[in-house]
Amino acid sequence: MSARVKTAILISGRGSNMQALVAAAAERDYPAEIVGVVSDRPEAGGLAVAAAHGIATAALPRGDFPSRDAHEAAIDLVLRDWGAEIVCLAGYMRMLSAGFVERRLGRVINIHPSLLPLFKGLDTHSRALEAGVSLHGCTVHFVTAGMDEGPIIGQAAVPVSPSDTPDTLASRVLHAEHQLYGRVLRWVAEGRVTLENGRAVHTGFTADDSAALIAPTPGIDPAHLENLARFTP
Ligand code: GAR
Repeated sequence: MSARVKTAILISGRGSNMQALVAAAAERDYPAEIVGVVSDRPEAGGLAVAAAHGIATAALPRGDFPSRDAHEAAIDLVLRDWGAEIVCLAGYMRMLSAGFVERRLGRVINIHPSLLPLFKGLDTHSRALEAGVSLHGCTVHFVTAGMDEGPIIGQAAVPVSPSDTPDTLASRVLHAEHQLYGRVLRWVAEGRVTLENGRAVHTGFTADDSAALIAPTPGIDPAHLENLARFTP
């Protein structure tokens, strides 16, 4: 088996997407290896979970550093120490500078809880409900300097039910996030998706891969499918 691509994860909170990536990487023949988890918040629940899996962790609070550059330099040093080639942002709630991103362009990916370019930023589920969309979901994209911008690699759609609250919608989207992120990291680690001229370019897609981009069915409650059927002409 060829060497697995060393991958680090940046988190700020509970780290459920991080856990999904750790679980994916534990699969046989998975092309990426999780070498470490960094958090800007020492109290982030995900750090203890990562440590319990025997994964290296680093807590680097922004307040411990005089500037954003100094903070990012410390993160960069840790990533280099681990030999991380790919960086996955998994609920890392801090903007990375253009310099940091450009040094690792095409090798930093982020998951966001909406179908971008809709609903960048925070409170995506409340905003989706307010907007009255019937499809919501999540996106994994290459990270560029703008917030929740950058070429889209993969998306998972989730139907919205009229009875949804921000919390019910969030939990359904989170389930889709957990399925999507592991698949997308696989593609990036295998070099089957690359960042070229500002676009995510896919090669060697299988029918299974493309189905995952539309709607990962295991996450869909049959009640929501029935609900969607009512809208079918
Ligand atoms: C996830 O829903 C992720 O998509 C979101 O934060 C949550 C983190 O949860 N990220 C963003 O909003 C980034 N713009 P987790 O810590 O359980 O993975």
